[in-house]
Amino acid sequence: MPWRQNPWFETVLEAQRRAKKRLPPSVYAALVAGSERGRTPEDNQAAFAELQFAPHVAGHQSERELSTTVLGIPISLPVLISPTGVQAVHPEGEVAVARAAANRGTIMGLSSFASKPVEEVAAANPNTFFQMYWTGTREQMVQRMDRARAAGAKALIATLDWSFSIGRDWGSPAIPEKMTLKAMWDFAPEAIIRPKWLWAYGKTGRVPDLTTPNLQPPGGEAPTFFGAYYEWQQTPPPTWEDVAWLREEWGGPFILKGITRVDDAKRAVDAGVSAISVSNHGGNNLDTTPATIRCLPAVAAAVGDQVEVLLDGGVRRGGDVAKALALGARAVMIGRAYLWGLAANGQTGVENVLDLLRMGLDSAVLGLGHKSIHELSRQDLFIPQGFERHLGAGDAGAAASPSTAAGSSAARRSTRPAARRPRKPAAPASAEAPVTPPAPGSPAPDSAPQQ
Ligand SMILES: Cc1cc2nc3c(=O)[nH]c(=O)nc-3n(C[C@H](O)[C@H](O)[C@H](O)COP(=O)(O)O)c2cc1C
Repeated sequence: MPWRQNPWFETVLEAQRRAKKRLPPSVYAALVAGSERGRTPEDNQAAFAELQFAPHVAGHQSERELSTTVLGIPISLPVLISPTGVQAVHPEGEVAVARAAANRGTIMGLSSFASKPVEEVAAANPNTFFQMYWTGTREQMVQRMDRARAAGAKALIATLDWSFSIGRDWGSPAIPEKMTLKAMWDFAPEAIIRPKWLWAYGKTGRVPDLTTPNLQPPGGEAPTFFGAYYEWQQTPPPTWEDVAWLREEWGGPFILKGITRVDDAKRAVDAGVSAISVSNHGGNNLDTTPATIRCLPAVAAAVGDQVEVLLDGGVRRGGDVAKALALGARAVMIGRAYLWGLAANGQTGVENVLDLLRMGLDSAVLGLGHKSIHELSRQDLFIPQGFERHLGAGDAGAAASPSTAAGSSAARRSTRPAARRPRKPAAPASAEAPVTPPAPGSPAPDSAPQQ
């Protein structure tokens, strides 16, 4: 590069390029995540590009309103931080992200698989939402919710779409269970070629410990990432009655994240949720699930007057935010976009990403001739034929709802199934065997500790 690099990056894609250069390859790969063919993460982004704007040439507004509320909380732009269970990206981790979100006037979503405790994160951003999977016993879930509530979390995000898909055609990074001396030795060749990353951790005198402090039992130790993933795999999956129980136990604003189908959205409303996120886990889960922006219009039309509808998946530009709002989302959540920013430039990098989204959104609202994001509508877009997916709405090509097809979920599963699924653990019992993380850029899947 002939010129001195400006620490400010001008697109999220540039932040991703810088993250790739800065992070050890296995950490970077865990953020890219995806599963199987990687079609869903690809479609999440490609679908936004298929939607086209219909801008005006005159009559533009000189001042534009970008603020809104989510679950009653005022935010200065309709972009929230989506929870990501990742480790080893940056020594300040989710605390830096929370500070950046607070500085830019928005909400922090904290994963229960994250590297920093909810107390520290909520202290950095009073508008923190705590995310949980359906994992462990009910008593453990209650204890985790009590802790998050005591820390000041303002809402619970229940992510229920995970189905433990395994494997990526392009391979997965080897991830140690613990940062033992041997694991550090094995990891050293990767770290040494990333001196800025190494120095950032070196200054703190600590190595990433790959544990999940938000799942720490009272008086016990925080489980390792893989230990937490194993518990999750062994937990019988939830019924809709379990969802209603979880919501009631939490007792406050409750978001169900992971919905792509209209019938599920309606059931979520029946279970009493306050909001849903149309989400496919950033494409890290069941590959070939369609892009969330394709599923949004049908879901928003079905339940948008009863609960707040959010969307996450593939948002990289302010224009994407405008498109999601035009198709019925109240706000969007971002995942990789802020992870790239965090990797590229810490807290400032996350602020940089939020600023880019704000400016891009403002540019779209300006071009479309509106004075507020609340005026965005389908009329602002050209939507190609066949773009939308009406999953679970009974249309051609969509599966019938499980309740009509095979009896109610209550009938198919008991509320507290006692049997454990006969599944082989994806994580190794032995601490140091490098493993191929099962999917979600995440724990092993999407919360994959990145190393
Ligand atoms: C590396 C990684 C880890 C993630 N971990 C979690 C998690 O712990 N909990 C959760 O609800 N979603 C998790 N997600 C999904 C995000 O919350 C969000 O749905 C997704 O990233 C949105 O897609 P995007 O990355 O294209 O913005 C993770 C995503 C990634 C990329």
